[in-house]
Amino acid sequence: MTGNNNSSLPIGVFDSGVGGLTVLKAIRETLPHENLVYLGDTARLPYGTKSPESIARYATQATAKLLLHDIKMLVIACNTASAVALDVLKKQMAPIPVLGVVEPGARAAVAARPGGSHLVLATEATVRLGAYRRAISALDPKARIKEQPCELLVSLAEEGWTEGDIADSIVRRYLHEAQKDGFEADSIILGCTHFPLLRNAISAAVADTVAVVDSANTTAAVVQQTLRSTGSLATGRDPGTLTLLATDGIARFARVGGQFLGTALTADDVHLVDL
Ligand code: DGL
Repeated sequence: MTGNNNSSLPIGVFDSGVGGLTVLKAIRETLPHENLVYLGDTARLPYGTKSPESIARYATQATAKLLLHDIKMLVIACNTASAVALDVLKKQMAPIPVLGVVEPGARAAVAARPGGSHLVLATEATVRLGAYRRAISALDPKARIKEQPCELLVSLAEEGWTEGDIADSIVRRYLHEAQKDGFEADSIILGCTHFPLLRNAISAAVADTVAVVDSANTTAAVVQQTLRSTGSLATGRDPGTLTLLATDGIARFARVGGQFLGTALTADDVHLVDL
């Protein structure tokens, strides 16, 4: 793979909202010297209920905005946009490498429970496109797979209501829906980057033996491998810079986003952009 060899250029990361910050956090932990630009398309969230045509258009526009920052790699930190637009964006962006989160998420689940039964919690669009079913089956033909749309979990995460009675009862309701035909999962895949924020509520609702997996760490590992293979890893010793962009509600983005980045943010830390 040929990349952009300027190692000090930033990695671009985007999602429909704050969810992709779960992936950004893992990338920062794995690659602390990388400069990062994150775009949350909060004006048009949720992506998960939109048509593939709209999602592809949004993803292309978000990518164009990140290209203005001269990015050396693009991470689509949104399962929905990955499911719809990964192939198109790879073609449009070549030779800049583009990585989605579905394949790394599927890989993490198969590694956790080889030959297992996987329950995928995702958005309506990701489920409709069967993105995880295909990715898991390609890695492990013996796997059993069930996909459950859980759109309300996106709203809970964006609201910051990730613990407590409301989160618990909505999570339990979706798990009940998914398992009422007797499907017994031994892995639960958080197939939307917003859902790791609800990991505690989800883990509390299932047996301890069930693996709850997401794509953040496996995605960060693939980012590292990709940059290494293209000779584009940051060479500086200083902590990388972080630029945060959002298309609406920067105060809310800062409040909720700060919670999962583990850094207090104010609206001044987030730039309002139009796409
Ligand atoms: N966080 C996104 C995902 O991983 C989508 C949430 C939404 O906008 O519906 O699918």
